[in-house]
Amino acid sequence: MPPVLSSIIRDKVDHIDGASNAQLSVIDGIAKEFDLTVEKLSEIIKHFCNEMDKGLEKTGMNVAMIPSFVTGVPTGKEVGTFLALDLGGTNLRVCEIAFEGEGIIKVKQHKYRVTETQKTGSARQLFDFIADCVDKFLAEFVTDYTENAKIFKMGFTFSFPVEQTAINQGNLIKWTKGFTCSDSENKDVVFMLQEALNRKGVPVVVSALVNDTVGTLLSHSYKDPNTLIGIIYGTGTNGAYYEEISKIKKLNKIPDASEKMIINVEWGAFDSEKKALPITMFDNKLDRESNNPHYQIFEKMISGMYLGEIARNILLHLVDRMLLFDGYSSKELNRNYSFETEYMSAIEADESHTLDNARKILEELLNIPSTTLTDRQIVKRVCQIVGLRAARLSSTTLAAVIIHCGMVECGVSVGIDGSLFEFYPHFSARLKTALRELFGSNVDKIEISLARDGSGVGAALAAMLAATE
Ligand code: BGC
Repeated sequence: MPPVLSSIIRDKVDHIDGASNAQLSVIDGIAKEFDLTVEKLSEIIKHFCNEMDKGLEKTGMNVAMIPSFVTGVPTGKEVGTFLALDLGGTNLRVCEIAFEGEGIIKVKQHKYRVTETQKTGSARQLFDFIADCVDKFLAEFVTDYTENAKIFKMGFTFSFPVEQTAINQGNLIKWTKGFTCSDSENKDVVFMLQEALNRKGVPVVVSALVNDTVGTLLSHSYKDPNTLIGIIYGTGTNGAYYEEISKIKKLNKIPDASEKMIINVEWGAFDSEKKALPITMFDNKLDRESNNPHYQIFEKMISGMYLGEIARNILLHLVDRMLLFDGYSSKELNRNYSFETEYMSAIEADESHTLDNARKILEELLNIPSTTLTDRQIVKRVCQIVGLRAARLSSTTLAAVIIHCGMVECGVSVGIDGSLFEFYPHFSARLKTALRELFGSNVDKIEISLARDGSGVGAALAAMLAATE
């Protein structure tokens, strides 16, 4: 009898037709390595809670727990028009956002693609490009741009770890998600942006700097004041939440009489010492070959930038053992990051008996000469193993923040943005299953909703809150 696989996969899996014992037992071994029991999840949560405490105590800790200097909570009654700029992954987004009160928001926005050259060139080139985009946006979309000498106020969503020192000031700690611009680490990103805008004569003042999670949290709070956490599960991953100021021991100066401040957790960097996370050889290979080895270990197991690459490492492992594609790879599949997370999404979503979409991806996009149904079913199983672990791991930091804030029994709202959460098949259902295993019926008090494109709105809100202080 071949080994039974479905006990390891914690959700519905399809049968693999005609697989040999060798194929089944290797895949079973891999599934075991990627499996996360509820005990393991709890262990990770415990470790993460300790790391949060350390981060609140001192700067420079692994989980950075960055004070955002946003102390106001939106009421939904705010009115006014602000610009927002959102830099964090594939696109740069420029927006004009009008708050009309009663939770009503009107957004004009345009996306500009950030090229690989801009991501990896000099910081000056990147910020000059950003200033150009703001100028173009104002000329094209904002009617009173040239009519009077108005100075626009802008909130800047910058989705990278920044050691923030004021609402409009913060030094870049380290680039993530494939950005490596030179001459920028430890420098103030608002200053660099403002200089670029001034060089071009664009009449904009950058009045607030926020992380995308902080923006997501703020925009979700504008609609639902019960919101505790804002999360991104996209190209990268991270979360932000409202913390009691008295618990942020490392703050030298308490900004005002407020009781709460938003903390940008920067949980992507969790466990860079690899003490608690169940790292496999496929993760280690990815980390070693990445442009930031030993950093963002948690993010590398979860987020959209990396899942396809973990799956690719597994597929090549199977090819090398003659257990997949008859032992043949292709030039395309051999290239790093060629197996995109979007392909995993499409393959996991393929419910046809013959897995036709999987066949198209493998044969037409990745040039594997020919695939059998067994091959395609194995590829689908690999995607399920990697996708399931990502979703279950994602539950840990979310659960930890709720525990840390003592809100397990009270009920909270959580706003989540990002392509993985929005589009990856079963991601949110798997995440909720893990939360149910951890919290039992209390999970029904956690209201999780999609907060699409919230970070831009949030940056404008931060600019508004800063203007009213
Ligand atoms: C960055 C965070 C960001 C997250 C989601 C991570 O790589 O370090 O600052 O919030 O990606 O975009």
